Amino acid sequence: MADGDSKVWSPDSWQQRPALQQPVYEDPAELGSALAQLQGLPPLVTSGEVLALRQMIADAQEGRRFLLQGGDCAEQFADCRSDVIANRLKILLQMSLVLVHGLQMPVVRVGRFAGQYAKPRSAEIETRDGVSLPSYRGDSVNRPEFTQAARRADPSRLVEAHVHSALTMNFTRALVSDGFADLHHPEYWDLAWMARSPMAADYQRMVDDIGQSLRFMETLMGQSVENASRVEFFTSHEALLLHYEQAQTRQVPRRDGWFNLSTHFPWIGMRTAALDGAHVEYFRGIRNPVAVKLGASVDPDALMRLIDALNPGDAPGRLTLITRMGAAKVEQALPPLLQAVRREGRKVLWVVDPMHGNTESTGSGLKTRRFDNIRAEVERSFELHHAAGTRLGGVHLELTGDDVTECMGGARDLSESDLARAYRSSVDPRLNYEQSLELALLIARKSREART
Ligand code: PEP
Ligand code: CO
Repeated sequence: MADGDSKVWSPDSWQQRPALQQPVYEDPAELGSALAQLQGLPPLVTSGEVLALRQMIADAQEGRRFLLQGGDCAEQFADCRSDVIANRLKILLQMSLVLVHGLQMPVVRVGRFAGQYAKPRSAEIETRDGVSLPSYRGDSVNRPEFTQAARRADPSRLVEAHVHSALTMNFTRALVSDGFADLHHPEYWDLAWMARSPMAADYQRMVDDIGQSLRFMETLMGQSVENASRVEFFTSHEALLLHYEQAQTRQVPRRDGWFNLSTHFPWIGMRTAALDGAHVEYFRGIRNPVAVKLGASVDPDALMRLIDALNPGDAPGRLTLITRMGAAKVEQALPPLLQAVRREGRKVLWVVDPMHGNTESTGSGLKTRRFDNIRAEVERSFELHHAAGTRLGGVHLELTGDDVTECMGGARDLSESDLARAYRSSVDPRLNYEQSLELALLIARKSREART
């Protein structure tokens, strides 16, 4: 793109830049017809919701809210079921209750769901017993089975992804508006296996405490705190497949600019965050709040240029930086970034993802993460922010409300041999309900310490 054109943005201007991690579709006409269909379908979210979330992120930047973002590494079409969706909502609600209670501030709840169907992969090709096939790239692209037919990039799956996202979103909205997320009824969020948990007593104490506070407020006000006690949910996903994102990028009557209406809060993954790449080009033109994942090798100058590209006017709520350094590297990699952003007075929300820098493989080849490393990265991040004079305003987690065994450690001290019992993730290992709740308790404690 010539220099003079470099400021001209359109929903397809990313096509002039190198786009990493895109599937190869055999037949452009087949892709074109799937995209045309997507373009005609109604969106999943509204511009008003997108802007409301942006305001909440602006509040979090000022220290008035905390962001909880969590869900699957990769959603699967087969998991678009009422029990899976409800359990995931339950654990996120329980965690947010622990955070509200511990931090004494409102929590912004953002799911990694209703669109988290595309995955970046480190290898284009997977080889087994001398046979090479394209890698599985998430359910919106192909299927995980190791056959030629399953691994073909199938454009109709883009439409299927939208449909499954809409089903997930619809059920989530219905539950929330029917009172499922009402703070008066935390018993709705009880998970069958919670009673056996070592955290059950701590959690119950908080629930009772919050119930008492609500009743006290209502007695004082002489009315029910209906609106204040109902919580909201927002959605997010890695906006990896740019054709898909473009097809849901819309203008809205009586509002300026373009919105990605497939989600409230898209993010750029670590592998696709190059300054001159297609993803940064696409993201710079949409009005959604956006996030970028940052790994341990990002240098402060490169980060400042990325901030210039994505938020040149320093608009509040626009940009979130999600650091995922790993417990072993956070100490050395995080402070230079914090100092650079602080020195230049840039407005960002800092969030820690303690999952993706802490992935390892067991002897038998299973991907796992140790709870101790996840905990260490969270704790060190709070301390490093405190020392740098910046604020850690949120966490980004891979978790499930189901009773899986994918990460090691935690209160029940899951070992390598326990992993085989209930390992169900198709990509990265998730915290189970108990490990998630334990982490929420720990974040509440650590964040309080960091503020004193
Ligand atoms: C992810 O969030 O699942 C992911 C792939 O993260 P990252 O881009 O940080 O590696
Ligand atoms: Co992941």
